[in-house]
Formats: sequence, C-alpha cells, structure tokens
Amino acid sequence: FGEKLLDGTSLLLTAGPTQEAIDPVRYISNHSSGKMGFALAAAAVELGATVTLVSGPVHLKTPQGVTRINVESAEQMQQAVMAEVETHQIFIGCAAVADYRLAKIADSKIKKSQEQMTIELVRNPDILAGVASHSARPFTVGFAAETNNVAQYAMDKLQRKNLDMIAANDVSVASQGFNADHNALSVFWQGGHQELATAPKTEIAKQLLTLIAEKYNQQ
Ligand code: C5P
Repeated sequence: FGEKLLDGTSLLLTAGPTQEAIDPVRYISNHSSGKMGFALAAAAVELGATVTLVSGPVHLKTPQGVTRINVESAEQMQQAVMAEVETHQIFIGCAAVADYRLAKIADSKIKKSQEQMTIELVRNPDILAGVASHSARPFTVGFAAETNNVAQYAMDKLQRKNLDMIAANDVSVASQGFNADHNALSVFWQGGHQELATAPKTEIAKQLLTLIAEKYNQQ
C-alpha cells in the first residue's frame, strides 16, 4: 500500500552549467538554468528515491529531501560524480557540461594590452561516458540538446556513450529547453522510443522518471 515507483532506489544526477575559469575573475560558461535537473531531483524524491544532486552554479533552491553537492568546473563535477557513482543505482546526466576548459588558468587577472588575444582550450572529460563505462555501472541516462536531426543524433549518442536511455530535446524551439519552464522530450532506449509532449518541466520530469523506473525495474 502506498508503494512508490522508486522506493528504495538511489539516484544521482547532474544539473546546471559548468564554469571554466579563465583567471580569478572570469570564466566560460553557458545558459543552462538547471531547471530540468532540479525538477527531476524533486520528482525523484516524490517517487520515493534517495537523491544526490551534483549541481553547477545556478539560482535555484535545493528541492526538499535532496542532498546537493555544489561544483563549478567540469573536472570538479566529474570528481564529485565518480565519488558517488558506486553508491547509486540510477544516474541521470542533465548538466550542460562545458566541452572545453582553459589549457592554463591565469593566476592573476589578465590585463588588457594587445588588440587581439588567443586562449587555448582543451577537451573536458565526458562525465556521462565515464559513468557508463564504470565497472559498477548504474542505470545510465543522458540528455541530448540538439537543433536538428534530433532522433538521429540522440540514437547515435545512445550507442556511442553506451547509455541505457537518452532524452533529447530540440533547443532550436525557444519555448522549450534551455532556461524555459516547459520542455518536450524524445526518449530513446535500446529497442524503444517515446515522445513526451510539451509540458511544464515538473510534469516532464515525472513522466521521464516513470519511464526510467519502468525500464530500470525490468532489468
Ligand atoms: O555529447 P553531448 O555533450 O551532446 O552529450 C550530452 C550528454 O552528455 C548530457 O547528458 C550531458 O550531461 C553529458 N555530458 C557529460 N560530460 C561532458 C559532456 C556532456 O556528462 N563533458
């Protein structure tokens, strides 16, 4: 009686952007608000899960019952995730991780002098792919923000990163995805697909977690 879909399940997720320092006062980042990840964390608690949320810098309140770990850079996010991965059964990578970081962070504020300057960037680790290739691999879910060929790119990513499920959204539609309060998702798994029609992120979060719980419990 009163049993919930994710009772007794531990869920780890990432949310928000990462910030890659240039010098002590500057950084490179993106427009991720963290809303989708925080909505997923709140919905997972409602469904009975124990939730750990690794978040980049965002302006959102920690949902009730969620353990939050704050990070700034992709490398910090990876460290936090890898320290938690073995104790969680489901992982959702919802963060908009910066693809590149500075090759070298300046120790002091960079002064303006030349008319042009160049900064060298190096690839960040892929946190999601790292989780998916871990020996104690949780049920691993990724996100894909695409502007075209959404289904094709999402299915490629599912295979390439060895995921159990991927949730793709079309970020070329201004009313959904980045920073918006609504979202629509195309969800793919090995041998299946479902469309979640445009709805508030809180509603989409419940629908996606219901799908995740179904597939996770079938394993
Ligand atoms: O390859 P792409 O960045 O489009 O993949 C998006 C998915 O991978 C998201 O789930 C995102 O959280 C995750 N990701 C990650 N680490 C990166 C890049 C992306 O975990 N360095």
